[in-house]
Amino acid sequence: MYHYKEMLSHLAENRLLRSLQQSQLEPGHLPHLKGKGLLLFSSNNYLGLSHHPLLKNAAIEAINAWGIGSGASRLVCGNNILYTRLEEKLARLKQTEAALVFSTGYLANTGTLAAITKKGDLILADRLNHASLIEGSRLSGATLRVYRHRDMTHLQTLLSKSKKGQRIFIVTDGIFSMDGDIAPLPDIIQLAERFDAMVYLDDAHATGVIGENGGGTASHYNLSSPRLIQMGTLSKALGGLGGFIAGSHDLIQYLINNARPLIYTTALPPATLAAAISALDLIHQDTALIERLWENRDYFYQKITALGFNTLESETPIVPIVLGDSQKALIFSERLLKEGLHVPAIRPPTVPQKTARLRVTLSATHTKAHIDTLTDHLKKIGQTLGVI
Ligand SMILES: Cc1ncc(COP(=O)(O)O)c(C=O)c1O
Repeated sequence: MYHYKEMLSHLAENRLLRSLQQSQLEPGHLPHLKGKGLLLFSSNNYLGLSHHPLLKNAAIEAINAWGIGSGASRLVCGNNILYTRLEEKLARLKQTEAALVFSTGYLANTGTLAAITKKGDLILADRLNHASLIEGSRLSGATLRVYRHRDMTHLQTLLSKSKKGQRIFIVTDGIFSMDGDIAPLPDIIQLAERFDAMVYLDDAHATGVIGENGGGTASHYNLSSPRLIQMGTLSKALGGLGGFIAGSHDLIQYLINNARPLIYTTALPPATLAAAISALDLIHQDTALIERLWENRDYFYQKITALGFNTLESETPIVPIVLGDSQKALIFSERLLKEGLHVPAIRPPTVPQKTARLRVTLSATHTKAHIDTLTDHLKKIGQTLGVI
């Protein structure tokens, strides 16, 4: 017998039960949740591109030209010409020789890590890496060791314990999805050079957000390295769906031959590819949306820290408000919801024990008035709950 009911009751008792909320973004007015008139501070749609007219038109044109579905995997007959155009633009954005698009960021991570590492290799992963990186690391059978979050001394200690001749991969998020801080990539690369390791960088939240024209973490630090493999998504700042790897021509050819989620799944719909091309053209030509995102982020951050909330070391449009206790985080989030504000409570196991939090994400589509409304309610509820 499978004890689903008991397992669910256990989660509910510990305030850890998750449920799906129906959400429909209101056309043309991005930060609202239809029906409930909610203001969203929970989306990864950092630039508001999911509703941008240019992207919508590009998608519609692609549907008219090629239909809804791609019909097969990329290696059979699903490799629409739009893939080539998109991958050229991604390689330009990431300053690499080549790029390869997967159906999601999750698949890009699991497929690539499983393909490039093998039993006997050593993977050193930041403790706060995204679940898909952990999954990919486990799939390969390589030895996985976790270093304390952004702790270069700990990383160095683990590197120095590696076996002679062992292949080493340091795996890190660029912007950490729950803390909103940035990986110390220059230090990581330096250690990689010293210990002859490769670096795998998950730029899901950094692509389109930091660096020149949204180029991501490597661009943010103005660095490039042959040791670096960059991953990104088309699903967050770029507004659509899909993931990608950017790196050397040889790496990409290797993945085409070895990454199972690339080989054994149906190719993305042409509309999705066309929208991503349009998104990349847009941020290449005009950084206004990225600038607006950062204005909003800085405006919110200055207000929230002045109120005395614990925002960890957030440096980006992801701003955690740490409350510690799961129950408190849920109550806080529920009270915000009653005021028409959608700010999710993030609880273990997504974040470490005792660090339950609200996770605020800013978008270029928020107005100052939206942000004022949020901070006013955060202040009121925070005082009532004794958080500030
Ligand atoms: C850091 C990180 N990596 C990878 C992913 C997966 O990307 P996608 O949503 O495109 O599958 C996410 C998204 O949840 C993420 O936050």
